[in-house]
Amino acid sequence: MATAIDEMIRWTTPVKHFMRTATVDYDLRGTTIKAGQDVLLSYWSANRDEDVFDDPFRFDIGRTPNKHLAFGFGVHYCLGAMLARMELKALFGALLPRLKSVELAGNPELIRSTFVSGLKRLPIRYQLD
Ligand code: HEM
Repeated sequence: MATAIDEMIRWTTPVKHFMRTATVDYDLRGTTIKAGQDVLLSYWSANRDEDVFDDPFRFDIGRTPNKHLAFGFGVHYCLGAMLARMELKALFGALLPRLKSVELAGNPELIRSTFVSGLKRLPIRYQLD
């Protein structure tokens, strides 16, 4: 379950990006970022980095290691990361043993946001035990 939950978080990467301001000049693979320049951290891109993940576009619930950056990195690492993992574990831990079937019952609709991604609507048909 633990590896599946981190793969769901990597796959969906709910926070799309954050900004940072460089405090010193920095060379990133031949591109110089000057002190004072704003840069965009793309968590979506980081979490599909083929230098880090084997077959990054494959959803693999057994993926290990899974060094995704969906919760950020460093001093601003998400304070709610463990709570978010616990919530997903509680949800799927309760749901999966009872779920007999689930299928799409309409077109999914995404929220329109430049910052956080997610579903606005996901019509499903399901049967519980
Ligand atoms: C799947 C769910 C979540 C995702 C993907 C997520 C993602 C993130 C990301 C990317 C950051 C920025 C990290 C950075 O700047 O390097 C962040 C920061 C933060 N998150 Fe979350 N988060 C989630 C759930 C939560 C929950 C449940 C809480 C609180 C109950 C929470 C509280 C915070 C706080 C307080 C910060 C700011 C930390 C700081 O600036 O020092 N997050 N989160």
